[in-house]
Amino acid sequence: EDASLPEAKKIKLDDTDAEKIKLGDGKDVKGTRVRVFGRVHRERRQKDLMFITLRDGYGQMQVIFSGPLAKTYDALTLTRETSMEIAGTLMKVPEGAHAPNSRELHADYFKIHAGWKAAGGEEAITNRVSKGTEQATLLDLRHLTLRGETASKVMIVRDAVEFAFNTVYKELRMRKVSPPALVQTQVEGGSTLFKLDYYTEEAYLTQSSQLYLETCLPSMGDVYCIEKSFRAEKSLTRRHLAEYSHVEAELDFITFDDLLSHLEHVMCRVLEVTLADPTIKQHILDLNPGFKMPERPFMRMKYSDAIDWLIKNEIINEETKEPHKFGDDIAEAAERKMTDIINKPIFLTHFPAEIKSFYMMRDKEDPRVTESVDCLMPGVGEIVGGSMRIFDYDELMAGYARENIDPTAYYWYTDQRKYGSSPHGGYGLGLERFLAWLCEQHTVRDCCLYPRYFGRCKP
Ligand code: 4AD
Repeated sequence: EDASLPEAKKIKLDDTDAEKIKLGDGKDVKGTRVRVFGRVHRERRQKDLMFITLRDGYGQMQVIFSGPLAKTYDALTLTRETSMEIAGTLMKVPEGAHAPNSRELHADYFKIHAGWKAAGGEEAITNRVSKGTEQATLLDLRHLTLRGETASKVMIVRDAVEFAFNTVYKELRMRKVSPPALVQTQVEGGSTLFKLDYYTEEAYLTQSSQLYLETCLPSMGDVYCIEKSFRAEKSLTRRHLAEYSHVEAELDFITFDDLLSHLEHVMCRVLEVTLADPTIKQHILDLNPGFKMPERPFMRMKYSDAIDWLIKNEIINEETKEPHKFGDDIAEAAERKMTDIINKPIFLTHFPAEIKSFYMMRDKEDPRVTESVDCLMPGVGEIVGGSMRIFDYDELMAGYARENIDPTAYYWYTDQRKYGSSPHGGYGLGLERFLAWLCEQHTVRDCCLYPRYFGRCKP
């Protein structure tokens, strides 16, 4: 070993030489001297001792101040959320006592850097964010509520899930692309377009990257993206956002059955990869104690059978106040009731062309319906929408006409049908909806960092 190099894994900030670790690290460090950094999650005093739960995003650690350390001015006036540096010896917790990772840090040194002490008194975080705080205020204070245990676990699971999608797509040799957010074409209907003035031209925030993904197939093979999609939804439901993360994929030379099998594989494999990390698995079980891997194959149900099911189960169409009939859009409430009663993932397929987008391929056996699929999950409802795409030029033209879309701006999309068209299909999965299901969150708002929806664009 080259003695002139800095000593491995040791950092010297002062005259103590404790090893620096993250709070969740090092099951093997009992008895060693370590240096930790984090914020005060909780603190309590008991006689001459002070117990601190320190938090750093990787875990929590119980720290004990005793003797003169507990009597210092900074210890006596310590506030929650204060950032600290603490050195001490890691010990096993005494028999019968509980602490994260069954260990505690017996501190011999601590430091609060100037300006790092968190506000106390009226301004203390516990006064600004508590159980009784109004929902709207909590949302204004998202930058603080993100420090809470539930919010931070959901965000950490989200990171793992996004990584798992990338892993699984790479296993399938799919390539990631990054389509534009500023566009001049609609994908999912004009009513939810955010319009903006783009150097005097009209442009929109994209509703879906699908059309762009389709243009990549001829040169890149199967592709995917994880990008933001935007919907000017004027509804305040628990599953609608104005800005959401959209996991979209497009596959070349496939059949509708291939699309369904792929989708089932991706969703289950993403869960496997995500749960393979013990910390993430524990977070998921803390958030959703009843979580079970979905059984394969997923139930497959045709739209027409769903209509019959709704009629039989007396779930009416809330808009017409009448029983459902073929051609109705199954609204969110009815869809969720059905999914919750069936209580397992459902591939709902073959929707009528009239209630779906211009690009969807019709079913050869029954041209009233399309080769389309929504994946429905208990508690949330639709989390995926996908279909086979029209690959015939004339049929696509008829699709534009049916939806009153001027094809001019779509020249680049239409061109795909002129230069080597192919049977292809794909889907979009709402990441926040997937997480709401996985982490059993009441609303998708709690599954994004800073939710954007009707009436909210801050912080
Ligand atoms: O069903 P959608 O509208 O389908 C598409 O956008 C297709 N072009 C995707 C494709 O085939 N590449 O949306 C797909 C998914 C929905 O199932 C839902 O999970 C999510 O996107 N989604 C929303 N999530 C949150 N807030 C909203 N307003 C959403 N709208 C759709």
